[in-house]
Amino acid sequence: MFLLNAPIVATREVAPGMAVVSMEAPEIAASVRAGQFVNLGIAGPFLRRPFSVYRVDGESIEVVLKAVGVGTAELLGMRPGDLVSCLGPLGRGFDLEAGPRSAVLVSGGLGVAPMPLAAREARALGMRVTWVHGARSARELCSEAEGEEVIFATDDGSRGFAGTAVAAAPDGELVLACGPNRMLAAVAERWPEARVAVETYMGCGTGVCLGCAVPLKAGGYDRACKEGPVYRAAAVDWASLPSHLPYAVTA
Ligand SMILES: Cc1cc2nc3c(=O)[nH]c(=O)nc-3n(C[C@H](O)[C@H](O)[C@H](O)COP(=O)(O)OP(=O)(O)OC[C@H]3O[C@@H](n4cnc5c(N)ncnc54)[C@H](O)[C@@H]3O)c2cc1C
Ligand code: FES
Repeated sequence: MFLLNAPIVATREVAPGMAVVSMEAPEIAASVRAGQFVNLGIAGPFLRRPFSVYRVDGESIEVVLKAVGVGTAELLGMRPGDLVSCLGPLGRGFDLEAGPRSAVLVSGGLGVAPMPLAAREARALGMRVTWVHGARSARELCSEAEGEEVIFATDDGSRGFAGTAVAAAPDGELVLACGPNRMLAAVAERWPEARVAVETYMGCGTGVCLGCAVPLKAGGYDRACKEGPVYRAAAVDWASLPSHLPYAVTA
């Protein structure tokens, strides 16, 4: 784990109100795995905010976000040269291993976040990648996607498959998913062995505060920031998880 003052390198818009922020963080760029996240510090008396690492480009890492509150708005307002305190890489990622010949990546809304790195790692292990990405409408779809095959799905049918990304997805030997937790619950129904990146509230991001509890089917709780944020889909007690999160914010 590294703590760096990372200079912002660039920002690009990938959908209305959704942007990719690139920052120079060589140690994190060299070591991050798909599904891991960084905890970004903003000015003022605020806790750090967690963001999945979206891409790595040389010595820079990228995160993708929308403004939903003070921290995200501040990050989106940063300009090249501004410094952001960056702690990471954190959590356990998808931990891909050789074996499967195909990987299906299923993302909803900002759930695109861990997918470019997941696609890169899956391809490096010889897998054929199909990425299925869903949003409410064509306007809200992220304009960037990777894979041998890319399938878009929109709730209103304005682009691609009319319906959810889960319904649009083919079966694959390996299924990776990220999105609103109600979408991940549907993933768990269809593919219990899928690996899913779960979103929770987080305080410390390093396993100390217990603010990121994930209820488990087997009983008890995990810490999303330490044992997660990636889980076997069937391991999570989805019926208990949604009760304490406003999913609409990042869907
Ligand atoms: C492991 C992990 C990875 C994440 N990756 C990304 C990412 O790649 N891109 C991205 O845009 N967001 C991501 N998030 C969510 C992001 O951390 C929150 O949206 C952010 O912390 C909100 O900060 P804020 O100061 O802008 O909002 P605040 O002012 O703190 O809150 C604004 C609103 O957002 C809600 N909120 C706060 N935190 C969360 C949360 N964790 N999940 C859902 N709603 C929340 C609050 O209840 C409130 O309604 C991730 C979260 C986790 C746990
Ligand atoms: S966020 Fe503090 S223990 Fe996970």
